[in-house]
Order: sequence, then structure tokens, then C-alpha cells
Amino acid sequence: MCGIVGYTGPRRAAPVLVEGLKRLEYRGYDSAGIAVQSGSDLKVIKTVGKIARLKAIVPADLPGTCGIGHTRWATHGGVTDANAHPHRDPTGKIVLVHNGIVENYKGIKEKLQAKGAVFLSETDTEVIAHLIARYYEGDLEKAVKAAVQRLEGTYGIAVMHADEPGRIVGARKGSPLVVGVGEGEMLLASDVTAMVAHTKRVVYMNDGEVADIRPDGFTITDLDDRPVDKRIDSVDWDLGEIEKEGFSCYMEKEIFEQPESIGRALSGRLDAEFATGKLGGLNLTPQQLHSMQRIKIIAAGTSWHAGLVGAYLLESVARIPAAAELASEIRYRNPVVEPNTLFLAVSQSGETADTLYAMREVRRKGGTVLGICNVVGSTIARESDGGVYVHSGPEIAVASTKAFTSQLAAFYTLTLLLARMHDMSPTEGRRFMEALRSVPDKVARTLTLRDQIQAIAKKYAKARDFLFLGRNLMYPLALEGALKLKEISYIHAEGYGAGEIKHGPIALVSPETPSVFLVPDDFLREKTLSNMKEIKARGGPVIAFGVEGDEDVRELADDFIGVPKIDERFYPFLMSAPLQLFAYFCALELNRDVDQPRNLAKSVTVE
Ligand code: AGP
Repeated sequence: MCGIVGYTGPRRAAPVLVEGLKRLEYRGYDSAGIAVQSGSDLKVIKTVGKIARLKAIVPADLPGTCGIGHTRWATHGGVTDANAHPHRDPTGKIVLVHNGIVENYKGIKEKLQAKGAVFLSETDTEVIAHLIARYYEGDLEKAVKAAVQRLEGTYGIAVMHADEPGRIVGARKGSPLVVGVGEGEMLLASDVTAMVAHTKRVVYMNDGEVADIRPDGFTITDLDDRPVDKRIDSVDWDLGEIEKEGFSCYMEKEIFEQPESIGRALSGRLDAEFATGKLGGLNLTPQQLHSMQRIKIIAAGTSWHAGLVGAYLLESVARIPAAAELASEIRYRNPVVEPNTLFLAVSQSGETADTLYAMREVRRKGGTVLGICNVVGSTIARESDGGVYVHSGPEIAVASTKAFTSQLAAFYTLTLLLARMHDMSPTEGRRFMEALRSVPDKVARTLTLRDQIQAIAKKYAKARDFLFLGRNLMYPLALEGALKLKEISYIHAEGYGAGEIKHGPIALVSPETPSVFLVPDDFLREKTLSNMKEIKARGGPVIAFGVEGDEDVRELADDFIGVPKIDERFYPFLMSAPLQLFAYFCALELNRDVDQPRNLAKSVTVE
């Protein structure tokens, strides 16, 4: 959570910082601020609210060519101007922005207060500024290194000192930080989206590293002052990918990108000769892969839902026992890490703290963890033993859409690869592969249902509660449909396995509580139809997402959306966009901020 950005170079810093923060706004958006240095003067401007509000109060002619900025997702202290970053030290000469949580801030604060220090905010961050000031003896980098060694918890920080113009020091532990290498200018940010308008040459920092950046260059050292040899990577996407391109918001754009993004996730990964999947980055020999007897998937939120689909598939198609675990739970369960178990950490951002820490715990115990990530160079991608990039392109809207279907594509490819190593025949492999190849076109057809879905959303958007129900592969989709709806429309929604409702949730059914049923023509269709009848018998309205031409489902439902027909194992792809569109149109109907829903942030880097 929180986004930080820094700029030092020949240009005026303020517009670069504000524009960078706008790109990072998905990381948190309750308050924002910048600090800009002009000579020995450090000007801080900050406010509650979104970046647009900050932009409105930053003078167009604000001088200064070096600065830092922050967009906040509040953790310690309410949403107030005083708690917004940047924070200063008592002398006013040091300014600092921080992403993360200082777990021992209270103890440090009390000790400093006992020595007379006065704090102006309720944040954990302000103690870092005070500590740096205490260690400062003319060299900001040295002071930062000394200060961060006293911190427990996580931090990505950018710091400036009034007496060292043009210099920004960044340090990270547990919160991402990237250095951008420009021509005569340098940037520092939580992620590359903030800097891609200026440079595509980036250096990903690791925990325990400190960056010292000036207009003409940078150094990266560890906390013991040893230089760290870093590679300069190149960002492989363009600014256009993070523009709205005519869509009303990023979520809408990202929903409609799915035929292409799924195509990219599959591209070059299907081997026609052997009817199998090809995943180059796993860093495991075929023998090692073949010897895996169990798969455990760790993830959070939407990525966990993709993991649930993956687990169903890996078990039922590749015949490998598989389960998807919530990262925030497995981490503290002292998990048993058996030999021949393959762990998969699934994360769009590659920075989710729950997933990252769970993965570190598994690796510490000797487990092999592969990452399934979207963001190239992200911490999970770099710390895993190998993995798969899903290539959905930058996902900006807080609600994950295209990353979900690209994660599915990765799971289907992995399933094919493992199934063909075990029992799946070449003929069956070809059938699976052909169905997978047909997915992008069929997903494009589901997008043409947009107007029908909008009409249904209009009809039901005023409901207070929703149930989302499905069986087997549709169960994770029911969870995902409910999550999408509550996340962006704030309507209460619960996802259940349709077979589970009779065990309690059916008590919620009433004419005011619509049920969204996912009913593909799979081997459980009849059972799901019975569950629909149970709801109808109790006066509950039913919206059915079924298969085009399925008259039984159409007749039973109050409202019906028909997706194209496909091999029954592939309906998760075809149900995704309709569910996303349903949530999207409900949110529009209720005038919600679709891309930046309340209380949320895209990249959840706190526990
Ligand atoms: C999805 O719409 C969410 N905003 C959220 O659940 C998200 O999927 C979760 O925080 C995990 O993020 P990750 O994929 O970046 O790890």
C-alpha cells in the first residue's frame, strides 16, 4: 500500500512527482503530498484526498528540481493533513516518505519523547525522520543506514536533506522500490508505472539495499556499505498500456482487453508436436517436475480464486493432489513442507505481503516455490525458485480482472504440461490444447453480452444482498463474482458452492435477495438446476449465467445470460467477463468510484 516517487534531474520536479503519483494512485488514495527542494529550502505540500486535490494546490511554478512524493493508504493515524506524507524531522531539514509499517515505532517514539522530541503526526513514519536526524553527521546515506537498522517491520523510503541538494536516498525492506535510470536524471518509485513516461531503464532493489541517487548517477549498497552489483532491466511495455484509451475507467478497459491478454498468456506456451504445455521459466527439470506428488497454491483475494480453479484442474485433469490456501492463513499455521510438494505463489502484483511472507516461510523450510505473477521484476517473481509471468500487461484498476483470466491461462497450461507427463494421452492433450486455443475468441464473444448484462445490473443494483452460487469449477467463480460485486459496488454478496446452500445460507433467500447462478452444461448441470429450483421455490429471484441455447436454465431463471459453448473444463474463462461486467455495471448504477473503491488499494503490502 502507499506509493512513493522521487525525482532528481534538470527539470522542475513537482509536475514529474504529481504525474508519477497519479500513476501510483491505485496503491492508496486517501491523502497525498510532495516535498521539493529549491536551494536549501524544502517545501512540503500535502493534503487529504486524491492526487487531483494535491495537483490543485501545487503552484504551477513551484521551483526545485529534486523532490519526493507519496500517496497514502492509512495504517497508523487517521486520514488527516498532518498524517499525510512527507514527514519532517524536528529540524525541518529532513523530509521522508514511507511505504510499509514500522512495528516497533511505539517503543522508539516513547524513548525519543522521553528525550524531549515532539511529534506532529500519529504515524509510525515520523519516527524514521527523527531517527535519521539523530544519526545525521553530514552524510544522509550513512544516517539512513543507521536509522533503518533500528526498525522492525517493513519500509520502502525516500529521504532528502536540505543541506544535500539533488540527492535522494532510498532504502527498502519488504516494500518495493525501483530506481529509474534516465539521461541526466534519476527516479525512484514503488513501481515502474510512475517512471515509464521518463525512462524504461530500471533497477529493482532488494531488501537490505540502499540507493543513493543524484542527477548524474546512482549507487546501491547494502547496510554494511558493500556495493551491490545491479543489472539495469528494460521495461517491456509502453505508456499507452497505462492510459484509459477511450474507456470510461481502467476496469472497463481491462475487462475488454481479456481476449488479447489471455492470448498473450498462452502465446508460445502450447507445444503442438507433443500436445503439451511449454513453460520455460520453471527452472525444474522434467524429472523434478514429474516427481512432484502434491501441489499447494498460496495466494490472496482474486489470485486465490484463480488458485482454487487451478487446484480443481490439477487434481481432476493432471491427477495430482492439489489445494489452494489463503496466504494469510498458511503462513502462521507452521505449515508442513513435505518433499515432492510443489508450491505455487500466485500474485498479480508480486508484492502482496501475505503471499510473499507465506512463500518465504515455505522456502525457509526447504520447499520449492514457483511464482505465477504479472508484474515483471516484482519481489515474489524475483524471490521464487522459478515461475510463470502471465503477461496481462499493467493492471491499474483495484479490482483484478484481466490478471485473473491470465492466471487461469497459466494454470491451464501447467495442467496440460503435468497431465501429459502423467496419464493424459496425446489425443486428449490435443483436445485440451484446442479448447484452450479457442478461449480468446470465445471470451471476445462473451464481451458482446455487455448490453444485456447492463440491463440486468440496472434491474438489481438496488438489492442489499446477493448470493453467488456454482458447483465444481464454478464455485471459485461464484466466490470471485461475489468479491467483484462487493469490492466495487459495496453491495453485500456471498459466494457459495451451490450444494452448500441447504446447509445454512438458504435461510437468506427472500424476494429481496437475488441469487446469481453459474450453470454451465457440465456434468453437474442437473444438480445445479435442482439448487436453482430450491431458490425459486422460496421466492428468491434468480439470475443465471448459463450456456447459450440452454432453454431449461433460461426458463427457470428470472434473467438469463448465455455464454458460448465450450469443453466443460473451460467455462471459468467464459464466466469471468460476464461476472466482472455485472459487478461493473452495478457499481456504475450506484455511482461508485469503480477504479478506486473505498478503503482498498491495489497492492496490499501490509499484513
Ligand atoms: C481483487 O479484485 C482484489 N483487489 C484483491 O483481492 C487482490 O486480488 C489481492 O489483494 C491479491 O493481490 P495480488 O494478486 O496482487 O497478490
